[in-house]
Amino acid sequence: MAVSGSKCRSCKEPAVIDLPRHNANFCAEHLLQLCRRQVTKAIEDYSMFSPDDRILVAVSGGKDSLAVWDMLVEAGYEADGFYVGLGIGDYSDESGRFVHAFAEERGLTLLSTDLRSDFGYDIPTAARASKRVPCSVCGLSKRHLFDKAAIDGGYDVVVTGHNLDDEAAVLLGNVLHWDVDYLARQLPVLEARDGFPRKAKPLVRLTERETAAWCVIRGIDYLVEECPIAAGNRHLHHKDVLNAIEKESPSTKSAFYNNFIENMAPLLAEHGSVSSGDLQHCTRCGAPTSGEVCAFCRLVATASPHEPVPVELVLGRRGRR
Ligand code: FES
Ligand code: ZN
Ligand code: ZN
Repeated sequence: MAVSGSKCRSCKEPAVIDLPRHNANFCAEHLLQLCRRQVTKAIEDYSMFSPDDRILVAVSGGKDSLAVWDMLVEAGYEADGFYVGLGIGDYSDESGRFVHAFAEERGLTLLSTDLRSDFGYDIPTAARASKRVPCSVCGLSKRHLFDKAAIDGGYDVVVTGHNLDDEAAVLLGNVLHWDVDYLARQLPVLEARDGFPRKAKPLVRLTERETAAWCVIRGIDYLVEECPIAAGNRHLHHKDVLNAIEKESPSTKSAFYNNFIENMAPLLAEHGSVSSGDLQHCTRCGAPTSGEVCAFCRLVATASPHEPVPVELVLGRRGRR
């Protein structure tokens, strides 16, 4: 990470990181300061939450979710963690270890659930049983469980570690397909509605390189490896495309995302505020749903009777990049 010979923009001490999009280099302390400033700005500009709110941070063991949990606790927020064991072989075992170690070392409250022991399935099995791509059943499971944990625990907001790279990549995908429904809801904060909790993404102004630097400087051990069955998905390809553009023309990525939020999102606001129709309570779990049984309970019914599918089989079917 060190940048030989260069100096921090703020204090002129030796720099540890260069950030072309800011056209500057930073020492460890001033990099942390930059991260804090960007997170505070996101929380305030988008009215994400206030110091009185109880926050539930969805943690995966990766750099972003642990960094955002660390930043919120450091800033004095009341933030607990929530971890979902996805049953993706060694990847999930490792990620669970990082999350538990982080919480224990800092004396933080960590809630958790495990798909296999609590619901009788895991992500590879659910993908095979439902004939859907793993990321789709994974997203559905996590969204449902985050919402439920927040509502049951009386939390005011669910925080996720989505960073600028994630959001810009998803935005690019939505733009390429002109998916207006998704575009209208691709906001840094979504208000609580129809029985769903408020959701916020305080890292939208930081890149993944910056959150990784935060973790290294703050001594946070995180799982570096990416999810093995997400390799090759559309989202990662869009990240590569944006990185190639960013390399040629620094700060394009942040302009792409920030100008969307500033200039386009307000034009789509009305579209996004349309309610998802008449919602009722799922007859099995009580979650809001448009049908009788919610998508999560339907997935549990499909996946839990299925013989467990080892993660290698899902890998073999999708291939690696
Ligand atoms: Fe969800 Fe990989 S973490 S599919
Ligand atoms: Zn400095
Ligand atoms: Zn349900």
